[in-house]
Amino acid sequence: MTVVELAKRTGQTIAHLQEILANVGEKVVSEFHPIGIDVAELVATEVGVNVRRLHSSEGSVLEFRPPVVTVMGHVDHGKTSLLDALRQTSVAAKEAGGITQHLGAFVVAMPSGASITFLDTPGHAAFSAMRARGAAVTDIVVLVVAADDGVMPQTLEAMRHAKEANVPIVVAINKCDKPGADPERVKIQLGSEGLPLEEMGGDVQVVQVSALKGTGLDRLEEALLLQAEMMELKARIDGPAQAYVVEARLDRGRGPLATAIVKSGTLVCGQHVVVGAQWGRIRAIRDMAGNVLESARPAMPVEIEGLKGLPMAGDDVTVVGTEERARLLSDGRRKKQEKDRLKMVNEERYPLAEPGA
Ligand code: GTP
Ligand code: MG
Repeated sequence: MTVVELAKRTGQTIAHLQEILANVGEKVVSEFHPIGIDVAELVATEVGVNVRRLHSSEGSVLEFRPPVVTVMGHVDHGKTSLLDALRQTSVAAKEAGGITQHLGAFVVAMPSGASITFLDTPGHAAFSAMRARGAAVTDIVVLVVAADDGVMPQTLEAMRHAKEANVPIVVAINKCDKPGADPERVKIQLGSEGLPLEEMGGDVQVVQVSALKGTGLDRLEEALLLQAEMMELKARIDGPAQAYVVEARLDRGRGPLATAIVKSGTLVCGQHVVVGAQWGRIRAIRDMAGNVLESARPAMPVEIEGLKGLPMAGDDVTVVGTEERARLLSDGRRKKQEKDRLKMVNEERYPLAEPGA
């Protein structure tokens, strides 16, 4: 493929592509300069074009993957309690050792062998922040509504977020153990807000639960798996990973640690990566029990160690061939970020004059 062809396929100008190519250390002599598939992929990722469309998926292995679920709802309706209760239902939580570290995401493994990945960062802020950065990590939203309180402003906000992101909702009516609980009222409220509930002929499932008593959780998990089944969530297993950061923190001994969820491909220990504007070489991959792994597959939340700096939630993880390329690409991204920031500051300071003003 040449630069000209890549420009055609990505809809970008040749000048823009040449800038990116320079950033990844590719010496471009002319627009007919041939570029390798890995570089083309890198450039495609940079300009936000779906890589798989460029990259032939022929021969690659597509497999069903677990759904990634975010819990949202009004303040105090029980999001944290529900996540805690769900975490307890996992086979891993019952095994010796169990979940030993906080990753910002956890997997509930069902006795059937199926599993569900929950993002442990409830709230619309996290969801919006990640979406704003292009990280479409969430497959399904669990909308928590307290049975005594009913639909509240943030319930509606969550509904709006999910709709805008085109992410299906499963409703969990929580606190059904409370004396004042009125699940039927909640359903009517949701219906009149335009949420097409299953029992009203729509396709949105509703489950009644109590995070406090731990009731209805199995039915909620079944509902999520059913929803996932309908969505036929599949991922490419082989080849370089595409992953997203859901949480990052600095550990005094181990340095920057990022929790990432692989979207496709397999992330392998030792690989050079660019994460947002950061880069590094993966020194260790750990699961939520703290076990060291050789690699991570789609929908698995893992902690990666070896980055030079702290990335942000929503940053994408891109695997590159060499350390030099990783450094160049992250430098390029950092410069671009700085340029965009300055441009924004300038636009605020010197807003374009109104025509005729
Ligand atoms: P924010 O993070 O502040 O928005 O709240 P949250 O949605 O995470 O709610 P949280 O889990 O903190 O629960 C709020 C309160 O409701 C706590 O006092 C919980 O003990 C209580 N609560 C949560 N779930 C249930 C439930 O199923 N039944 C009853 N009776 N109380 C519950
Ligand atoms: Mg909470």
